[in-house]
Amino acid sequence: MERILDVREMMPKDRHSKIFGTFKGLKAGESFILLNDHEPKPLLYQFQAEHHGEFDWWPLEAGPRVWRVAIAKREASDPKRTVTEYLQIDHKRLDNIFNRFLKAVKEKSWDEASKDFREFRIGLKRHIRAEEDILFPVFEQKTGMHEGGPTAVMRMEHTEIQGLLDKILSATDAKDSAQIPHATNSLVNILTDHNMKEEHILYPESDEFLSEMERFEVVKKAQAV
Ligand SMILES: [Fe+2]
Ligand SMILES: [Fe+2]
Repeated sequence: MERILDVREMMPKDRHSKIFGTFKGLKAGESFILLNDHEPKPLLYQFQAEHHGEFDWWPLEAGPRVWRVAIAKREASDPKRTVTEYLQIDHKRLDNIFNRFLKAVKEKSWDEASKDFREFRIGLKRHIRAEEDILFPVFEQKTGMHEGGPTAVMRMEHTEIQGLLDKILSATDAKDSAQIPHATNSLVNILTDHNMKEEHILYPESDEFLSEMERFEVVKKAQAV
């Protein structure tokens, strides 16, 4: 059972100390889910300033009334993160949510399926934005490869992936168990190949081209997307 910290009923001035207290109480590898009534961006910046390299920040729900973020204490605290490590963890995390979704569909637990898929969709869209808006421009600038390069292929695949996300969302909302497998199979096929290319080529090459400081900046900006 996931630990939940709901700060919505707390006095605003007490919230941050409670949140950081909960974080400090975590063992390495543990996490909790923060429930809040506004987007907790200032909190993320405070985490980055005080706990850089020690935490992961994964939004699960983004308004309009409730914001949920999974805040994890990393297994090994290390401020010198690579782009590969950070984005690879996110691929794995998203795979897990997606598998939970598939299981819920199979069991026809539609409330669970809808919640899981929404978490997956928010996470994957954010992941894609981090790649397209933060990592790819740096990669393109460093390598001089734009059209015809690997990022152009990745961007095309992202468009395809986002189309499938919309399709699966409507099929899930319609509880249409006949439509879902077709779209989910297509998504798995594209994503498996896409993630592999990123993890084996694009991310490691980016790490090679970037200085330690630049890698630090990419991860920091990607967390705030
Ligand atoms: Fe991607
Ligand atoms: Fe990716």
